[in-house]
Amino acid sequence: MTHILHIDASANTTTSISRAASAKLVADLGGTVTYRDLAETPLPQIDGAWADARLTDPDARSAEDAAHLTLSDEIVAEAVAADVIVIGAPIYNFAAPASLKAWMDLIARPRVTFRYTENGPEGLLTGKKAIIAVASGGVPVGSEMDFLSSHLRVFLGFIGITDVEFVAAKDIVPPLAA
Ligand SMILES: Cc1cc2nc3c(=O)[nH]c(=O)nc-3n(C[C@H](O)[C@H](O)[C@H](O)COP(=O)(O)O)c2cc1C
Repeated sequence: MTHILHIDASANTTTSISRAASAKLVADLGGTVTYRDLAETPLPQIDGAWADARLTDPDARSAEDAAHLTLSDEIVAEAVAADVIVIGAPIYNFAAPASLKAWMDLIARPRVTFRYTENGPEGLLTGKKAIIAVASGGVPVGSEMDFLSSHLRVFLGFIGITDVEFVAAKDIVPPLAA
């Protein structure tokens, strides 16, 4: 059975179009679901201790280092377990919401989700598909001002997820009454 990691990033928890669209995508796909709501349960910003811990060799990590990485390990494990990742993502100021950027920062882990080889960077989260339901106001999804889609495509590719589909949320669900 397909396992889906369903992520919502909109700060709007009541009338969000990206949330409605991601929910529809997940329902249509069917399967088991792990859900992460980045607005209801915001992820912390990374800090210096986190950045140092992720670069420390796993065998040399202190208990404190390991503790700094616990949430990041959880975020990575959720993606590793998924066959499909569905993200409801609004465009905020031409780019991803800070909540989604925090998820990206936590999932980018050297030797875990990507590594550098003599041929350049190699993503390690292979064999997965991602579908992104993008909501926006005036910026057309996929246009050159839509830095959310271009950034996510590059970022997900960097960690090994190259099968990425972007859909305009409004094409999937009608706008909800405000
Ligand atoms: C803080 C903020 C910044 C926004 N910036 C943009 C933007 O740069 N371009 C755009 O087209 N829409 C922008 N919008 C509009 C949202 O993308 C639009 O309302 C979208 O439907 C929000 O997604 P949601 O309905 O899932 O919450 C912004 C909205 C907010 C709240």
